[in-house]
Amino acid sequence: MKRTTIMIAGGVLLGVAAALVGVSLVEGQGTPRRPVTDHGPPGRWLPPGAHPNPAGGPAIQMDTGLGPLPPSTGAGYSSLTDVKPGGAWPALPRSLKGPVQPVFYRHDIHAGQYRIPCLYCHNNAANSYSINLPSESTCMGCHIVTSAPDTAGNPNPDIAKLRDYYARGVSIPWVRINRLPDYVHFPHMRHVAAGLACQTCHGNIQQMPRVFAVRNVASMGWCTSCHMERGVTRDCTACHF
Ligand code: HEC
Ligand code: HEC
Ligand code: HEC
Ligand code: HEC
Ligand code: HEC
Repeated sequence: MKRTTIMIAGGVLLGVAAALVGVSLVEGQGTPRRPVTDHGPPGRWLPPGAHPNPAGGPAIQMDTGLGPLPPSTGAGYSSLTDVKPGGAWPALPRSLKGPVQPVFYRHDIHAGQYRIPCLYCHNNAANSYSINLPSESTCMGCHIVTSAPDTAGNPNPDIAKLRDYYARGVSIPWVRINRLPDYVHFPHMRHVAAGLACQTCHGNIQQMPRVFAVRNVASMGWCTSCHMERGVTRDCTACHF
C-alpha cells in the first residue's frame, strides 16, 4: 500500500472526524461560563467555539481564544507537527516516560502530526463521567487500510499486533495512567463542557510518543485550588458521596 493511498484513506476518515466535531452554535447549559485564564485549547485539536456533543448532549464550549498552547520540550516529548503527512519521523527521544503499553500507539503521530481530534477516539468525553479509550474497531477504521509498512512492504509490527487483537476479538489491555480512588466523584464531561482544554490537566498529549502523567491527578489540593480560582463549589459532597 503506497503512502499516497494511505493519505487519501486517512483524509476521508479525518473528514468524517471533522464532521463529528464540527462547529455548531448551540449554547452550553448551566451557569455563565467563567473565562479560562490559563492556556487555552490548541486550536488544531479542538478550536475555541462551540462544538456539537458527539453523543447529543450539551455543546462543548471551548471558549478561550488565547491561541495555541506553547509546545513542550524536554524528556518524554517530541514534536511532529511540522512533519508533512507521510514524511519521515525524527528519532524518538532517548528516554520515554510513562508505562510501556501492549501496542506502541503514538499520540505524537496521530494527534500531533495527523491532527486527529482527541474526540475522534475519546468520543464520550463530553457526556460521560469517565472518558473511554477507543475500541480496536476505531483503530481499524484506518489500519485495515494503512499499515505504515517498511521498505519491504511488511506492516509496522505494532499495527500487526493491533490487527491480531482485532482478529481475535480481544481488547488491547492498555495500562491505565490517570486514576482516582473510587471514593472520588469526577465528572469529566462537566470540565470538558466548561471549556477546559484536555491539555490543562493532561499536558501536551499530542507531543507524547508514549503517554505519561504530567501530574498526580489524585490530589484533592489540586482539584480544590482550581475550583477556588474559578468559583466552583468546594462542598465535600460534590466530590465525595
Ligand atoms: C487515534 C486515537 C486517539 C486519539 C486521536 C487520541 N487518543 Fe488519547 N489515547 C488513545 C489510546 C489508544 C490510549 C491508551 C494507550 C495510551 O495510553 O497511549 C490513549 C490514552 C490517553 C490518555 C491516558 C489515559 C489514562 O490511562 O490515563 C489521555 C490523557 C489521552 N489519551 C488524551 C488524549 C488527548 C488530549 C488527545 C488529543 C490531543 C488524544 N488523547 C487523542 C487513543 C487516542
Ligand atoms: C484516522 C486514522 C487513524 C486512526 C483512527 C488510527 N490510526 Fe494509527 N496511524 C494512522 C496513520 C495515518 C499512521 C501513519 C502511517 C504512515 O505514515 O504510513 C498511523 C500509524 C500508526 C502506527 C505506526 C507508528 C510507528 O511507530 O511506526 C501504529 C502502531 C498505529 N498507528 C496504531 C494505532 C492504534 C492502536 C490506533 C487505535 C487506538 C490507531 N492507530 C488509530 C492513522 C490512524
Ligand atoms: C479538569 C481536569 C481534566 C480535564 C480538563 C480532562 N481530564 Fe481526562 N482525566 C482527568 C482525571 C482526574 C482523570 C482520572 C479519572 C478517574 O480515575 O476517574 C482523567 C482520566 C482520563 C482518561 C483515562 C480514562 C480511563 O478510563 O482510563 C482519559 C482517556 C482522559 N482523561 C482523556 C481526556 C481528554 C481527551 C480530555 C479532553 C477532551 C480530558 N481528559 C480532559 C482530568 C481531566
Ligand atoms: C483546571 C481547573 C479544574 C481542576 C483541576 C478540577 N476542576 Fe472540577 N470543575 C472545574 C470547573 C470550571 C467546573 C465547573 C463546570 C460547570 O460549570 O459545569 C468543575 C466542576 C466540578 C464538579 C461539579 C460540581 C458541581 O457543581 O456539581 C465536580 C464534582 C468536580 N469538578 C470535581 C473535580 C475533581 C474531583 C477534581 C480533581 C480530581 C477536579 N474537579 C479538578 C474546574 C476544575
Ligand atoms: C473538588 C473535589 C473535592 C472536594 C470538594 C473535596 N475533596 Fe476530598 N478528595 C478529593 C480527591 C481527588 C481525593 C483523593 C486524593 C487525595 O487523597 O488527595 C480526596 C481525598 C479525601 C480524603 C482521603 C484523604 C487520604 O489521605 O486518604 C478525605 C478524608 C477527604 N478527601 C475529605 C474531604 C472533605 C472533608 C471535604 C470537604 C471539606 C473534601 N474532601 C472536599 C477531592 C475533593
